[in-house]
Amino acid sequence: MTTHAKVRKAVLPAAGLGTRFLPATKAQPKEMLPVVDKPLIQYSVEECVASGIENIIIVTGRGKHAIEDHFDVSPGLEHLLEKQGKQDQADLVRKISNMTHVSYIRQKEPKGLGHAVWTAKELVGDEPFAVLLGDVIIDGPKPATRQLMDVWDATGVGAIAVEEVPRDQLQLYGVVDAEPAPQGPWADRLLRVRELIEKPKPEEAPSNLGITGRYLLPPEIFDCLERTPPGRGGEIQLTDALRLLAQEKGLWAYIFEGTSYDAGDKLGFLKATVEFALKNPEFRDSFRAYLKGLKL
Ligand code: UTP
Repeated sequence: MTTHAKVRKAVLPAAGLGTRFLPATKAQPKEMLPVVDKPLIQYSVEECVASGIENIIIVTGRGKHAIEDHFDVSPGLEHLLEKQGKQDQADLVRKISNMTHVSYIRQKEPKGLGHAVWTAKELVGDEPFAVLLGDVIIDGPKPATRQLMDVWDATGVGAIAVEEVPRDQLQLYGVVDAEPAPQGPWADRLLRVRELIEKPKPEEAPSNLGITGRYLLPPEIFDCLERTPPGRGGEIQLTDALRLLAQEKGLWAYIFEGTSYDAGDKLGFLKATVEFALKNPEFRDSFRAYLKGLKL
């Protein structure tokens, strides 16, 4: 039986400027770019639902209305589709707004991921919560967020998802210095965080384990964020607050099972698009045939 507070909420920071994707993100949020037929942020919302999370808090900013509209009811569109006999599509549109309960909070200025998480403090309250970065899609048999929740339920200690990253790409990640802490069913997958380094040079990286956009955090993280001064680029970095949390409360690095796609970057986005298209039952065969026919 678990003695730790149940995880009921997730925070999805979506207030960044998406500069890596300009000009596509000039007038629309990066989180609304579609991978095959769903906007990026819907993959994270579905991961929350599949993990058993009931309340989703999306941190938005200027120019992000499309996100709110996407998860809102759309009676006009549903009615029109039904009138045209397109019941399946009407159901699909309705399902998005019925999926879960979504609240919104605005980050007035994009002062960093840490600041975006802190913005959700009042809505989260005094309970553990998940954080999902919407531009990372994780695919696998068990939702990555659920995997972190299982670790929390068993240990009552926060956890961050990590994965092995090629050495020459470590400078794009937060990297953990961690020691094996095998226990329960997780064996080699569970490590105790000693230190975290944001975007290290390859020779300075303490391991090849990069942080991958999923976090399970206790409410004490808010206090850590409040004590975190602005870091790189004047932004409040989540990694800096996680370092404090690791020292004061402990923190697991958990090598999740699944495949991640960093779709906030153009190449990662293209890879996600191709791989999800190859899984889509509607057209995977013809898409595969098309790819095979390309003269590369
Ligand atoms: P990123 O750095 O990947 O996103 O932040 P970005 O800032 O939108 O994109 P680039 O780097 O300019 O291309 C990771 C996540 O944190 C959110 C982003 O929306 C993204 O989901 N974020 C970042 C905020 O919500 N607020 C911020 O101030 C910064």
